[in-house]
Amino acid sequence: MNDFIAQQFSSYNLFQAAGDVVELNAWVHDDIIDQIKLLNEDPTKIKQHRIKDSKDGPENGYWYNNVPEGWGLPQNARTVGCLLYDAGNYIFPHRDKWKSIKPNGEITGDSFRLVNYVNHTNPSEFCFILDNKIINFEPKRWYAINTQKLHQGMSFVDDVVHLSAALHFDRNCREETTSWLLDSIPFAAGAQDDVKGVACERISQDV
Ligand SMILES: [Fe+2]
Repeated sequence: MNDFIAQQFSSYNLFQAAGDVVELNAWVHDDIIDQIKLLNEDPTKIKQHRIKDSKDGPENGYWYNNVPEGWGLPQNARTVGCLLYDAGNYIFPHRDKWKSIKPNGEITGDSFRLVNYVNHTNPSEFCFILDNKIINFEPKRWYAINTQKLHQGMSFVDDVVHLSAALHFDRNCREETTSWLLDSIPFAAGAQDDVKGVACERISQDV
């Protein structure tokens, strides 16, 4: 009897299998800061602009009304934006996504966060802590991060630029998100690219 049951890929599978910080083969270009400056000066590209007096989070953020070309993101990315930090700005320790779990066991919606730390990635400049671990991001590279775990950040310098976006498995996006992830996660992109792994076939032949 074939008892195979097809499951649907979700953010829970992603982070359980790959870890809470998943490096992706997706980058922004070297001139990204110039691109961001141009975008932020163009009101037709801005969906929302936040300037806050509070130091609870970045003081300045822009969200765009579409996915900019050449940013390495799939077209179904949502809430694409930049967060601008100066020295003293911080993100208070918190967890996201828990409100989508209902008492009856249903989960409404399934999305996860992509982040890209454009500059000042040394923790002595901007320190990001996820699940009590300091995360070292490669500049201009996209990462999927599990924001259900406790996370916080603090800036020790001015002019820090981060990009952020959401990818959904709900909203009819499961296929587009999953296929983009399979193309972008280094170890899922095909055995021929995975040169870091142990060559199991050779070992079994030697034994
Ligand atoms: Fe968060």
